[in-house]
Amino acid sequence: MNRADLDRRKAEKKRLGEYAANLVKDGMTVGLGTGSTVAFLLEKLGERVQNEHLQIKAVSTSEATALAARNLNIPVFDINDVSTVDLTIDGVDEFDPSFNGIKGGGGALLYEKIVAFVSDFTVWIADSSKAVKQLGAFPLPVEVTPFGYQHTMKALRKMGFSPECRMSGNKKFVTDGGHYILDCHMEKIIDPKALSVRLNALPGVVENGLFIDVVDEILIATDQGVDILKKKKL
Ligand code: 5RP
Repeated sequence: MNRADLDRRKAEKKRLGEYAANLVKDGMTVGLGTGSTVAFLLEKLGERVQNEHLQIKAVSTSEATALAARNLNIPVFDINDVSTVDLTIDGVDEFDPSFNGIKGGGGALLYEKIVAFVSDFTVWIADSSKAVKQLGAFPLPVEVTPFGYQHTMKALRKMGFSPECRMSGNKKFVTDGGHYILDCHMEKIIDPKALSVRLNALPGVVENGLFIDVVDEILIATDQGVDILKKKKL
C-alpha cells in the first residue's frame, strides 16, 4: 500500500471512530472493541466523557483497549461486574454481504466474541477495504491452547487450512487469555457457519475468528463520509 492509500485509510478510520463515539448515550454500558479504528473511537469517547460529563460504564475486549480507555478517563469495568452491555462498537477484518465477518487480526477475537455475545446491539466500524463478496482472503485466526498446539496445527493442516502460528517478533504471540493464534489461509470460505462449527469441534481450539449472526449494523467509510448498513431482518 502506498503513502496516499495509507493516509486515506487512516482518515477513514478516524471518521468512523468519531462517528461511532456519538452513538454512545449517557447511562449506557458500552463494549469497546480492539484495533486501530477503535483507537479513534476511544479518543473521541474520552473527549465526550470529559466535556459532556457522560456517565457511562465500559467493558473492554482486550487489555490494550482497557489501558487506552483508562488513560482517557473512560471508566472500565470487569465484564463480570455488569449485568448487560447496551452497545458494543468494534472493528472487523472482513465482512460479507450476509454480515458474516472475520475478526482477530489484533488477536482479541475470544474476548471480542464474548462481549458481542452479551451485547444487546453490536456495531462494526469498517474502512472501505473491509467489505468483500466472500470471506477468506484475510487469514482466519484460530485461538488454540498452547498445550498440544502442534497437534491442533497438524489437524488444521489435514483439513487443508495451511495454519501458521502467529509470532510477535521472535516469540509466539500470546492472547490476553494466554492462548496462541493459528492464522489459517483459506482463500475462500464457502460456508462460514459450517466451518465455524467444524473448527470449534477440534480439541485444542478455544475459538475461531468467524463472527456469524453477531453484528446488527456496520458503519462503512465512503469517500466523503460514513454509510450505515443495517442487517436485513429475516
Ligand atoms: C482485533 C480485531 C480488530 O477489530 C480487527 O483486526 C480490525 O482492526 P483495525 O481496526 O486495526 O483494522 O478483530 O482482534
